[in-house]
Amino acid sequence: MNTITQPAGPNTDAPAVEPSADALGTTAAHVRSGALEKQILDDPSQFRVLTGDRPTGRLHLGHYFGTLHNRVRLQNLGVEMFVIVADYQVLTDRDVADNLTEHVEELVLDHLAIGVDPARSTIFTHSAVPALNQLLLPFLSLVSVPELSRNPTVKDEIAHSRQSSVSGLMFTYPVHQAADILFCKANLVPVGQDQLPHLQITRTIARRFNDRYGSGATVFPQPEALLSSAPLVLGTDGTKMSKSRGNAINLAADADETARLIKGAKTDSERHITYDPVARPEVSSLLLLAALCEDRTPQQVADDIGTAGAAALKRTVTEAVNEYLAPIRARRAEYARDRAYVRRTLREGNERARAVAETTLSEVRAAMNSDY
Ligand code: TRP
Repeated sequence: MNTITQPAGPNTDAPAVEPSADALGTTAAHVRSGALEKQILDDPSQFRVLTGDRPTGRLHLGHYFGTLHNRVRLQNLGVEMFVIVADYQVLTDRDVADNLTEHVEELVLDHLAIGVDPARSTIFTHSAVPALNQLLLPFLSLVSVPELSRNPTVKDEIAHSRQSSVSGLMFTYPVHQAADILFCKANLVPVGQDQLPHLQITRTIARRFNDRYGSGATVFPQPEALLSSAPLVLGTDGTKMSKSRGNAINLAADADETARLIKGAKTDSERHITYDPVARPEVSSLLLLAALCEDRTPQQVADDIGTAGAAALKRTVTEAVNEYLAPIRARRAEYARDRAYVRRTLREGNERARAVAETTLSEVRAAMNSDY
């Protein structure tokens, strides 16, 4: 059951991919994402996107160029979008969700700052949408314990968990995530590769629900992953950018802090600056960052710097990042002064999500003969 076979969906021009091509279907998902991008440009109204994050702290440039930027792009192309602030999911690998209210508001602020428009996109939290959470029970009945326990992303998270024992939520959160996606019948989920197993279980649940309860009708669509083609921006130490590693440049950092962080970034002693992600990952990631901000190629940025060395590279990157982020940071500061607006955005998003979830739950009840 756990393999991506020929992707479902209209007008697919992706080639058939053997299920065994690779274990997670990553190759198939990349090929399919290319085809989906074309369909989005042709007719964005065919798509409803659900995407989201755990509220564990402020967002950084890795998030921005990895996913956030893409959200705004999809919204502006005319795709309907739901953004979930996955507050229950914070509890998968820790006992207490610290500073939750603050983190949730910061996440909303970050989205407003980058251009997510609450008039067009719905930002909401897990915990405020009871009907979404109620989908978890029937969905759990549709997956087996072995299916849950062999999820590679969950296994990896357990390996890195800061808890001494594994909670039930850790094993079941991919099913919860299926409820996040299916409650609004999203058919497109922009994700990183690590989330592909969760997309697969979501598709499995949708298919099994339809088979078991649909009486021939499709209650839930089988959503597809939209993998980003954006290359990875590394942290200032050359490893994956992550708040817990202390190597992140936050969207909300000010220009001086950004300059300080970039000044401290790891480079090498070769004065000739070249773009070579394999041999020179740290230098190349800095070049990539400047390139993304200036809408140029990393090679162009490198050619301009030539043999001026790491200090010149860092000056270039600092200027590029600060200039690019200036309007985002200005908007963020403006919204940050209007907390009432931030809270209202979330309240209204929650209301919209609740209405959608209630409708879906009613259909589920009807399909399951439990609408008394
Ligand atoms: N699991 C995702 C993460 O850790 C967050 C998330 C929760 C999510 N629900 C989702 C992502 C639904 C996409 C769709 O980043």
